[in-house]
Amino acid sequence: MAKIVLTGASSGIGAAAAVELTKRGQQVVAVGRSPEKLANVHRQMVLVAPSGLDVPEPIAADLTVMADVRHLAAVLLERCPRIDVLVNNAAAQPSRRVLTADGYELGLAVNHLAPYLMTRLLVDRLRDSAGRVVTTSSSTHVKGSFDFGDLQMERGWRSQLSYGRSKLANILFTSELHRRTQLPASSFHPGAISTDLNRNSPFVRLVKPFERFVLAPPEKGAETLVWLATDAEGAAPRGLYYADRGPVDPSPLARDGELAAQLWKVSADLVGLEP
Ligand SMILES: NC(=O)c1ccc[n+]([C@@H]2O[C@H](COP(=O)([O-])OP(=O)(O)OC[C@H]3O[C@@H](n4cnc5c(N)ncnc54)[C@H](OP(=O)(O)O)[C@@H]3O)[C@@H](O)[C@H]2O)c1
Repeated sequence: MAKIVLTGASSGIGAAAAVELTKRGQQVVAVGRSPEKLANVHRQMVLVAPSGLDVPEPIAADLTVMADVRHLAAVLLERCPRIDVLVNNAAAQPSRRVLTADGYELGLAVNHLAPYLMTRLLVDRLRDSAGRVVTTSSSTHVKGSFDFGDLQMERGWRSQLSYGRSKLANILFTSELHRRTQLPASSFHPGAISTDLNRNSPFVRLVKPFERFVLAPPEKGAETLVWLATDAEGAAPRGLYYADRGPVDPSPLARDGELAAQLWKVSADLVGLEP
């Protein structure tokens, strides 16, 4: 039985993965923002848990502000003497440019800096546990690019550009994490899935009733996550990007080692760590 820390477990793909992993006898520490949604998912986890499995208490945490991410990591280190898998799955897709209390563009903060900082703070525990890191990215990473002179996107902010950049960062972070630490790390695209991700977009609200005809259910989106968290492939020290339970090539930018190294250093600076 593995101890799996899973962010974004209160909704969508993460919730489906938390339930499926629990059904398979894994101990999932579900982390989410909304305590009510998290409690609901926890109830489902308890319902499907094999008899005798101790389902860990979930942890409610907002990952917008880096001090709160540090607090969450401290709670996890206190509660989990072993962490076999860290799944960085939480993400937001803002519909307008918002700056966090730290002064960071929201998509960059929640989708990249939070998992970057969390992973760095948990890396020794993961190493001691012979653990692995799985990060949910997206095929939308192809729309992303980095202008290090305008990291907070003061010019030309668009939802898809912000989101695409953060999902590109997930892939670059994964390959650089593996290069620097030799920890097994993987990122993946879950597919086009019906979830709450675009909840703030007026267009998405309009087409929501028809969504189920074109988008797959969260359980489908959870398949590659569950596989990478439990299969030997996810423990292979390669730092690759996956879709449909197999490695695929991400965009040329996502394979740029120099960009990955530069992003690592800039991110360390932003969250107040040594590279
Ligand atoms: N849906 C798709 O088609 C699709 C495609 C490609 C990639 N993805 C990726 O899949 C992952 C899961 O997204 P989803 O589609 O399942 O969307 P979702 O249903 O909206 O789930 C997102 C999760 O992230 C959490 N979250 C958002 N902002 C947060 C914050 N500031 N602090 C802490 N937690 C926060 C949410 O918490 P609350 O619900 O409690 O607020 C929720 O648990 C994301 O990484 C996304 O980029 C999704």
